[in-house]
Amino acid sequence: MTPEEIKRYLEFYRDLGIKDLRMHPPAPPPPATAAKPVAPAPEPAPFSERTPAMPPAPPADLSESPLPPPVMAPAILPMQPENDTMERIRADIGDCKRCRLCQDRNKIVFGAGNEKAPLVFVGEGPGADEDASGLPFVGRAGQLLTQMIEGTSQKEGIPLLREQVYICNVVKCRPPENRTPLPDEMEVCGQFLFRQLMALQPKAICCLGSTASKALLGSKDGVMKLRGKWAKWRDIPVMVTYHPSYLLRPYNQNAKREAWDDLKKVLHFVYD
Ligand code: URA
Repeated sequence: MTPEEIKRYLEFYRDLGIKDLRMHPPAPPPPATAAKPVAPAPEPAPFSERTPAMPPAPPADLSESPLPPPVMAPAILPMQPENDTMERIRADIGDCKRCRLCQDRNKIVFGAGNEKAPLVFVGEGPGADEDASGLPFVGRAGQLLTQMIEGTSQKEGIPLLREQVYICNVVKCRPPENRTPLPDEMEVCGQFLFRQLMALQPKAICCLGSTASKALLGSKDGVMKLRGKWAKWRDIPVMVTYHPSYLLRPYNQNAKREAWDDLKKVLHFVYD
């Protein structure tokens, strides 16, 4: 591995929140026997087959446990492959069993929209409607997001349809009771979000709410503090704004104006 590859490898893990990589212990020396002819090394498995899968869940009765069982930590996560594509990422996700969220999901919600779009919206994770349809932001929050995108862009003279942007989430499976995804779930599924964003290479990313902003910016600050200002994920400008579900609550109506302002900034930056 070249120093540049090692650097990229470490950056990738740092972005996943992994700060501590352990080396495998050195293999024990081979027993002293007569030298055997060396068999040719097998071809490396394709990337998709190297993606570590969670072993089958133990048949434990978890009904008594107040805590969800931990995600099985993969020995080592795959690196971002060269020339990655959305198709390949989807194939690598496969029928994912890497974390506990697989247990209750109906459909994996990969993302939807124009894969060539210069603007990507990142939400938290699927809700009931998304889990049933396999599409992101199709429930009430999704309808508001559509209004936000289409209404604001129309008013700003850069009319845009929702299908013209790309929309995805940090976790691809619905958390039970729509709870916030846990850090280990975000870490495991985050690798696919990062690969999606690297493959999409948008001009800007709009983070909807605190789960998306934590995943991409790693900041402990809340949305109120982060919103409205440009930040960066790798080299891509990121704007944080409120999650549409937050804006649906009647007592958060003032935040709507701020969300519309944030969106205006994004739209002008991307499409002017
Ligand atoms: N909320 C999200 O964060 N994502 C969806 O896809 C739907 C609701």
